[in-house]
Amino acid sequence: MKYMGSKARFAKDLLPIITKDRLPNQAYVEPFAGGMNMIDKVNGIRMANDQHQELMAMWHALIYENWDPPQTISEAKYKHIKYNQSEYPKHLVAYVGFNSFGGKWFAGYRRDKEGKRDYWGEHYRNITKQVPKLEGIILSSQSYLDLDIPDESIIYCDPPYAKTTAYRDGFNHHTFWEWCRQQAQKGHQIFISEYSAPPDFKCIWEKDAKTTFSWHADHLEAKLAVERLFVYAI
Ligand SMILES: C[S@@+](CC[C@H](N)C(=O)[O-])C[C@H]1O[C@@H](n2cnc3c(N)ncnc32)[C@H](O)[C@@H]1O
Repeated sequence: MKYMGSKARFAKDLLPIITKDRLPNQAYVEPFAGGMNMIDKVNGIRMANDQHQELMAMWHALIYENWDPPQTISEAKYKHIKYNQSEYPKHLVAYVGFNSFGGKWFAGYRRDKEGKRDYWGEHYRNITKQVPKLEGIILSSQSYLDLDIPDESIIYCDPPYAKTTAYRDGFNHHTFWEWCRQQAQKGHQIFISEYSAPPDFKCIWEKDAKTTFSWHADHLEAKLAVERLFVYAI
């Protein structure tokens, strides 16, 4: 699924590192699963959480309720759903809200001036292609701070990045890094995607990446950022 901050293009670099020492039956947990663009490529026991309630209602409907989403939505309907969200089921609100510019929540109806691109068809195909790969996954929708994580799990965190945060709720990065330290001390293997981290975290992978991630970069040239993967150096 096209999703703001998606890790789809880094999955083939990151997952072999993250799952290198995974044991049989060891749980793989993503507290910030978003568009499921990493976890859809992982096997075995998997837990996907995201605080975004509508988004997780959408994944639940697709994976466990056999929901076949609409293949097209008119601009008038998009706007009606955007401004009257409580009148619609959460899963539909998410499906529509995320088919916006840059995979951002209701950031505008996608329209191709030349009429060549079928954005709704692409959205439909991208999402429905993921669904079979997510069978059996355990879903939840709460703050990462409230997650109940099985002992000795692998935890992959892809939180809203510092300085580029454009998600609905404020995100306390200090609290987040402290939580990561605690998870490592509890015996989990924890990996974090970010551009930078406090000095007691070690960078184990990095790659240049063009991004249009910030709200402010929407209409500017893509800027260069370095994607990094960190672990806690206990
Ligand atoms: C960078 S995105 C994850 C993208 C995902 N890895 C992908 O490839 O599609 C970060 C996610 O964190 C979620 N989020 C923000 N604050 C959160 C919190 N306190 N607890 C859980 N999830 C949160 C957002 O809703 C968003 O989906």
